[in-house]
Amino acid sequence: MERITTRQLAEAFINQQIEALRAQIGDKKVLLALSGGVDSSVVAALLIKAVGQQLTCVHVNHGLLRKGEPEQVIEVFRNQMNANLIYVDAVDRFLDKLAGVSDPEQKRRIIGAEFIRVFEEEARKLDGIEFLAQGTIYPDILESAGVKAHHNVGGLPEDLKFELVEPVKLLYKDEVRVVGEALGLPHNMVYRQPFPGPGLGVRCTGAITRDRLEALREADAIVREEIGKLEVLPWQYFAVIPDVQSTGIKDNKRYMGWPVVIRAITTVDAVTARSVILPIDTLLTIRDRIVSEVPGVNRVLWDYTDKPVSTIEWE
Ligand code: XMP
Repeated sequence: MERITTRQLAEAFINQQIEALRAQIGDKKVLLALSGGVDSSVVAALLIKAVGQQLTCVHVNHGLLRKGEPEQVIEVFRNQMNANLIYVDAVDRFLDKLAGVSDPEQKRRIIGAEFIRVFEEEARKLDGIEFLAQGTIYPDILESAGVKAHHNVGGLPEDLKFELVEPVKLLYKDEVRVVGEALGLPHNMVYRQPFPGPGLGVRCTGAITRDRLEALREADAIVREEIGKLEVLPWQYFAVIPDVQSTGIKDNKRYMGWPVVIRAITTVDAVTARSVILPIDTLLTIRDRIVSEVPGVNRVLWDYTDKPVSTIEWE
């Protein structure tokens, strides 16, 4: 008997889902909030294969995405896969709403509520949508109050209640990734580290300002690039800029700047986590790059505390 490879299993799953999606959707239209995360990207790719232009993807840029993310969503889905993609630049809307808000839970609520409002507005502009696709995966069903609750489009008003399409709801994350690769999605999209719904918003602690957020986005890109070169990747690795300033010195003059905090953790389920002890060369490269490439930053710190006692995110 010949062995079946994981790839063949993924292809069988894809073919079966394409048929099931066509049977469910027929000639109707489907809407999907496409964040660019693994789950919604795989759902988008499956639906593009199954129903093509009957799918409309909405990508909301809330200003708290990582460097390069909105651009990659547009490149992969609109340019390469020819998807019907609506890109919504909602950066000002979100950042204006968040201005001066320092309470973490309040920030999360604002981001979640505004996201639904933006998505609702886009949905209302479209005619004849009957289905809403979602990247629900099996662990979301097992723990329905899980972390995903933050960014699922659960809160649409009654008159916008569509029938749900959830093609990966019986898969675990690693299975979703295998399917994503078999669908031809880029490796860095499929193997992306988990990223919280409120995005950089909970890593720019306290009241978010645009300049500190931009510094965080640049510093985070450096941290991801350098730690991404390691053979074994941590579960999550990112930068944080706390809402404090410290003294720096340049051309013999003292000035106030921000510290960047590096954080890298491994975990199985995010309930407990171990800090990854990073190689010294990686730490030195990150330090040198951040202070020379990121305006406004004059100090680099490494947070190597475990969870508990620290949480993974800073707020
Ligand atoms: P903590 O910081 O509680 O994080 O140790 C545990 C895991 O959950 C993620 N996280 C979030 N995910 N919305 C999300 O979708 C959120 O508001 C949120 N807060 C934390 C965090 O990145 C980690 O993987």
